[in-house]
Amino acid sequence: PRFWLIVPAAGIGQRMRAECPKQYLKLHNRFILDITLSRLLDNGQFDGCMVPLNPRDHWWPDSESARDERVQTCTGGAERADSVLAALDALDGQAADKDWVLVHDAARPCLHPHDLANLIDSLAEHPVGGLLAAPVADTLKQAGGEQPPSVELTVDRSRLWRALTPQMFRFGALRQALAECLADGQPVTDESSAMEFSGNMPVLVEGRPDNIKITVPSDLGLAEFILGRQ
Ligand code: CTP
Ligand code: MG
Repeated sequence: PRFWLIVPAAGIGQRMRAECPKQYLKLHNRFILDITLSRLLDNGQFDGCMVPLNPRDHWWPDSESARDERVQTCTGGAERADSVLAALDALDGQAADKDWVLVHDAARPCLHPHDLANLIDSLAEHPVGGLLAAPVADTLKQAGGEQPPSVELTVDRSRLWRALTPQMFRFGALRQALAECLADGQPVTDESSAMEFSGNMPVLVEGRPDNIKITVPSDLGLAEFILGRQ
């Protein structure tokens, strides 16, 4: 099987409250999206890369990646899952059902190359696939319904993981699972949840907790620190 990459980058970064979508903010003087894409493509395993973009995006032509012939773009959708499905559709005709697709958030530039290689090595022989994930470190509280919230119970965290990306699944199975969830109105915040909904048990591959998703302004300094240290 071949390996394809999808990097959803069609979001508007509402929580960042910046003057442009967060994937076009700069760290160490490069677009976050360019850092993410070059780290992924440095792996050398991929046969192609599809980046769904927002229809209102006018920053992409200024990116380094726009001049990289390995990178293709398509129009994304209203939610992340719509953007990923649009990218899968755009790869139709290039990818085969049994090929692997790795989906990685544009907003996660701190992915360590060892985690990427380890994900691929761990899952290459697996029928379904899986995702990078990190064990939950904090004690978790479940609140009751009242305001102000108060603790109803402490959740057992011993089997809880934080879902990270990349998430790696077979092209045909992922496309079918996402299409079914979207048609059913099922909430899908990641590829794994779509695969779970269609009865699969994706593998959790432990990854570094510093593979953060840049979401709010304070994440920018944190990401710059993580990148500088790696
Ligand atoms: N994404 C996408 N298409 C959407 C929404 C999100 O491709 N319709 C992408 C984002 O660009 C990002 C990744 O999915 O790389 C993770 O989403 P998130 O962190 O939520 O980014 P935004 O939706 O842009 O941010 P916010 O939710 O704060 O608006
Ligand atoms: Mg979002």
